[in-house]
Amino acid sequence: RSGVVRRDRFSGGPARGFMSSLAADERIFEADLAVDRAHVVMLAEQDVVSDEVAGDILAALDDVESAGHAALPEGEDVHEAIETAVVERVGPDGGKMHTARSRNDEVATCIRYRLREDLLDSIEATVALREALAEVATEHVDTVMPGYTHLQPAQPTTVAHFLLSYESAVARDTARLFDAYDRTNRSPLGAAAFAGTPFDIDRARTAELLGFEGTVANSMDAAAGRDFLAESTAALATHATTLSGLAEDLVIFANKGYVDLADEYSSTSSIMPQKVNPDTLELVRAVAGDAVGGLTGLLTTLKGLPRAYNRDLQRATPHAWETVDAVSEATAVVAGAVASAEWPAETLEAASGEGFSTATGVADALAMAGVPFRTAHEVLAAAAERADGETPDIETLDAVAGDVLGESLFTYVSRDRVEAALDPVASVASRDSAGGPAPEAVAAQVDDAEAGID
Ligand code: ARG
Repeated sequence: RSGVVRRDRFSGGPARGFMSSLAADERIFEADLAVDRAHVVMLAEQDVVSDEVAGDILAALDDVESAGHAALPEGEDVHEAIETAVVERVGPDGGKMHTARSRNDEVATCIRYRLREDLLDSIEATVALREALAEVATEHVDTVMPGYTHLQPAQPTTVAHFLLSYESAVARDTARLFDAYDRTNRSPLGAAAFAGTPFDIDRARTAELLGFEGTVANSMDAAAGRDFLAESTAALATHATTLSGLAEDLVIFANKGYVDLADEYSSTSSIMPQKVNPDTLELVRAVAGDAVGGLTGLLTTLKGLPRAYNRDLQRATPHAWETVDAVSEATAVVAGAVASAEWPAETLEAASGEGFSTATGVADALAMAGVPFRTAHEVLAAAAERADGETPDIETLDAVAGDVLGESLFTYVSRDRVEAALDPVASVASRDSAGGPAPEAVAAQVDDAEAGID
């Protein structure tokens, strides 16, 4: 009773709304009910509360659940509001629910409980994206396209090689999300305010009831620690950064006519009737900004917080919710955009030799014939200069070789060999080193990707 009176006295007055997280706590309403149930069951098993009181509390919790979050009485947060609702139904014995715990361990448990679910959703989205990337890659193992460095044509590659480069990155993003999941998946419940409790509680039991893989052992760490939030948000921000690169590549390729995005992932202009814009992918790029902002907001809030509990923590959590929502949605959008896009093979092949992107291949052919690579590089650099950004014809190449090497090009390599090196398709096929773009090298990468996804 006196607790209730004290709460009324310290209820915030004009700052009440400022202090309350009740609205934002809708996110952990179900989690809090689960935590309450597990705690009450454990208290009864340990004979800390009677089975009868525990039964009444559990029935009240069911009733509170049916009424929903919106029907909760006022409170500083969902934990207080649910407790008040239970006491309203059970009477003063309802207050036994809060024996041997604090809102500090309670909220930490709720956040971990809910975040597990959200991380699994985000992992499902990343796996679906990996499937889409691998799937489209299998259709384009032979589709030659220009490859870029510094946004300049660099060397021909294939659409499959390009897509699998992102599949590999998303695979690592997924692994990071699993790591974050593993460290999130520990129960802080029973830490109480931070300093434990004299009651004979069983922390392993509540952890088990809530499906956690064990407990966060040190009770001060359990109540105060939010590095699991930072790690999860960082994994999401890293993944969003991967997505933003893929989105940007697709925006650029769409601009050049190298990829056709499906209408449902494009948008038009309200004034310019001819426009088909890659808006969804631009929004994906922007989500990376939101995610980095979320991570920054979170870390800045956590930075310098002393042990054990400080109310700042209440404002740390929403950064993680916003980030996981935005990034999971963006991942699903990218998966859809990738799965539905068309890659026009003829346009891509025609463009794949642009900007003398076969120059390295000709230099490699000379080097394979015994010319030091640096000297071969000089020959091709001079040829590139003479051709002014275009691909030089074989006569020009031979003339330049004569200037630089003092000998004909054909002293070293056959005309056929040079022609093959200048052909983007043959150029790609020749680069069959492990992980390279040659169709057989890419086929191995497709197998690895598919095995990794299973
Ligand atoms: N709603 C708070 C949070 O999200 C938990 C309340 C703990 N309050 C307190 N004064 N110790 O962190």
